[in-house]
Amino acid sequence: MCTKEELKELVAEKLRENLFVVVSNREPYIHKFTPEGVECSKPASGLVTALDSVLQSCGGIWVAHGSGEADKKVVDKNDRIQVPPEDPRYTLKRIWLSKEEEAGYYYGLSNQTLWPLCHIVYQKPVFSRSDWEQYKKVNEKFAQSILEEVKGKNAFVFIQDFHLTLLPKLLKDADPNIKVAHFWHIPWPNPEAFRICPWKQEILEGLLGADLLGFHIGYHTDNFLDTINQVLEAKVDKVASSVVYGGHETLVKAFPIGVDFEKISRSAVGQKVEKNSEFLKKQLNISNIKYVGVGADRIDYTKGIPERFAAIDRLLEKYPHYQGNFVFLQVGALSRIHIQAYKNLNDEINSLVERINWKYSSDGWIPIVMMRRHFTPEDLMSFYRMSDFCICSSLHDGMNLVCKEFVSAARDETSLLLSRFTGAARELADSVLINPYDPESFADAINQSLCMSNEEKAKRVAKMKESISENNIYKWAASIIRALLKIA
Ligand code: G6P
Repeated sequence: MCTKEELKELVAEKLRENLFVVVSNREPYIHKFTPEGVECSKPASGLVTALDSVLQSCGGIWVAHGSGEADKKVVDKNDRIQVPPEDPRYTLKRIWLSKEEEAGYYYGLSNQTLWPLCHIVYQKPVFSRSDWEQYKKVNEKFAQSILEEVKGKNAFVFIQDFHLTLLPKLLKDADPNIKVAHFWHIPWPNPEAFRICPWKQEILEGLLGADLLGFHIGYHTDNFLDTINQVLEAKVDKVASSVVYGGHETLVKAFPIGVDFEKISRSAVGQKVEKNSEFLKKQLNISNIKYVGVGADRIDYTKGIPERFAAIDRLLEKYPHYQGNFVFLQVGALSRIHIQAYKNLNDEINSLVERINWKYSSDGWIPIVMMRRHFTPEDLMSFYRMSDFCICSSLHDGMNLVCKEFVSAARDETSLLLSRFTGAARELADSVLINPYDPESFADAINQSLCMSNEEKAKRVAKMKESISENNIYKWAASIIRALLKIA
């Protein structure tokens, strides 16, 4: 375990002479216009929620795309704003993208090429030359903006995810003294899957500009090293987990990300959350329901949402005694809505929920409550506290932080149903593991978790809480900083 304070000390002591820069596409705070004026909200992204805790504890600059419609209104002349707005701890520097850049770089190459290419959930990646051109341009824009901040100072730049694969090399070429770490938050596929990408060489060369490259699990690290072996003339040392390419060495290692267990578990038992839980239960008319389940996801085809509903359908059919006293609450944040596959998924979910609810509804009861809006972290916590079980059924996921947030917040006598195809499944062996592709065994697993004795549930939850508390977000960040300090 590592506490917030320990991470802060580590940064103060070891990175003293360095500017600490975090870079991601998604920003941690978004400003929007509302009838009441400009409002600030947090996006639905486990990655930024986790990293926000890190930056709040050790300070620094976070460079990200300013995607909120009111974002420009609130920044200073250098495009910066201090955040969190109510208690400023670090600087957020926003980068502006034109519609054309956003379409090619974010909606195109990041989310229609790399996202499906790496997740392998049978969604065909799109390879568009013009998207690739915009992607390169935007990576250069990020590099320029970071170099303006660094201006020859010692700096540790910590880059996030698949949106910014070219950035490590761009920074290193411009200033070899910058220490660069890049973290890949999604799965890295096997070389056979990756080799279809027309720009594989540039992407790999871009990433190898980093001194340290992190993945969530060893399997993705191995896949990456195998991909390098297949695509580049590089020296790959599997034992040392390092790659030497063009005279530069990159350490490639697994660092499983965690959550801010302390903060979540503390606020989950607070009065505010408890009162809110009661209020929401009344509002949803579920106060007398015996079995309440929850799912909270961005509406994304990797999350296995239709598969989860198919399993609920099978559960109610196979075990009819759940009819009338079982409700599943699905919180769904709209995501990447300009992409056709996401629109189709929304339609599919709508008709599936409508069909299942119509099939079983009686006396005002429906089995699935779909809530398609953005909820505050407190609301999410309230849903977790009122639930007897949570389903995370991703078809493939680098880690999945919803399951860790749920367990951190959950009551003792609850259970977690977790897809075997998430990185988290390797750590949370006390969850009930599922194969989301198989409705029959998935439905049986829901039944099994509901039939489990309270003692068994509490024993499992305690073990999972222990592991999540031990491997928290501060430990993740501290391990990456320590690893980078050893080599750079
Ligand atoms: C995944 C990615 C993150 C991304 C998040 C939300 O977790 O790994 O990089 O921020 O999804 O997606 P969005 O496209 O809304 O940023």
